[in-house]
Amino acid sequence: MLEKRSLGKTDIKVSPIGIGVMMWMGGKGLLGRIAPDVSDEVKNEIIKEAFEGGINFFDTAEMYGFGRSESNLAKALRANGIDDKDVIVETKWNPLLRRARNMRRTINKRIRFLDGYTIDLYMVHQPISFSSIKTEMKELARLLEDNKIKSVGISNYNAEKMRKAHEELEKLGIPLAANQVNYSLVKRNIESNGILDTAKELGITITAYTPLAGGLLTGKLHNNPEALKKKFAMYRMVAKRNLEESIPLVETLTEISKAHDVLPGQVALNWLVTYHDETVVTIPGATKAYQAKESAGAMAFNLTKAELEEIAEASEIFL
Ligand SMILES: NC(=O)c1ccc[n+]([C@@H]2O[C@H](COP(=O)([O-])OP(=O)(O)OC[C@H]3O[C@@H](n4cnc5c(N)ncnc54)[C@H](OP(=O)(O)O)[C@@H]3O)[C@@H](O)[C@H]2O)c1
Repeated sequence: MLEKRSLGKTDIKVSPIGIGVMMWMGGKGLLGRIAPDVSDEVKNEIIKEAFEGGINFFDTAEMYGFGRSESNLAKALRANGIDDKDVIVETKWNPLLRRARNMRRTINKRIRFLDGYTIDLYMVHQPISFSSIKTEMKELARLLEDNKIKSVGISNYNAEKMRKAHEELEKLGIPLAANQVNYSLVKRNIESNGILDTAKELGITITAYTPLAGGLLTGKLHNNPEALKKKFAMYRMVAKRNLEESIPLVETLTEISKAHDVLPGQVALNWLVTYHDETVVTIPGATKAYQAKESAGAMAFNLTKAELEEIAEASEIFL
């Protein structure tokens, strides 16, 4: 079993694999129209499987249905009788067309939607806003001081902007806990564009989103390309672009998975959170309970050094 690890230089401990609940938008907001609906019963089962499997952290955002995903997460945690102190919840402020001071105006909404579950990590969702990074970090520091949030993070920041955010927070004596970015075996550009190196140098956790490339790395789309038609546009694009090129990689994952009596997608997740020691954690999405169970199960075995390298080599074309 892979052990819990610290979020950056904070004392917050997370399981290397969490669960992202972006899909739980309930048809609200821009993204809600394209995300499949997940019933309350299934949401509860997803949280049950995840928590019982050793997952303790969950990712949501204001943008995911303007509070709908946050409130659905809180409901499902509560339905399972899970205590606030036993989970780490991360959510994100949407900076688009806003100034940093909007954070203090909207934070109580986030708190209300999360209904008793602490905001353990509060992130700026992406770097485009009317305010500077310096002003945004000062605003996050203020929320921290007011005890509205427990730690500070960013998402989709490049290496230069991540370093700037780190420097501004450092002046205030606050660690930058995490940068959440798109990272998987079919999207490895953070290994060459400075993001990963900067995170390692500064002790910032990388939270990998879309770690299964929307399910592509489980092999299910290679086995049944018809299923691609059911995927919504964003995933169809990612999957279509990589379907052919990822065949040898998925074959390698499948081969290695057999040796551990697990599944190819579990090997892909395990690789992501072990290849760079403890720098990377990940938040696969789940729309069915079995998926959360499998994601949790991806922490229950150890790949050998030779297997880690074999997988890295098989996905070299995605570097
Ligand atoms: N910060 C950002 O800008 C940002 C952007 C995107 C995502 N995120 C976060 O990252 C999380 C995950 O990303 P994601 O949903 O884009 O991609 P993902 O985790 O790569 O893909 C999730 C999808 O993969 C399939 N899947 C998951 N486990 C499976 C299993 N065991 N077997 C077969 N299929 C499985 C499911 O597809 P089906 O539903 O088709 O079964 C699921 O919806 C989101 O929930 C969100 O919290 C953050």
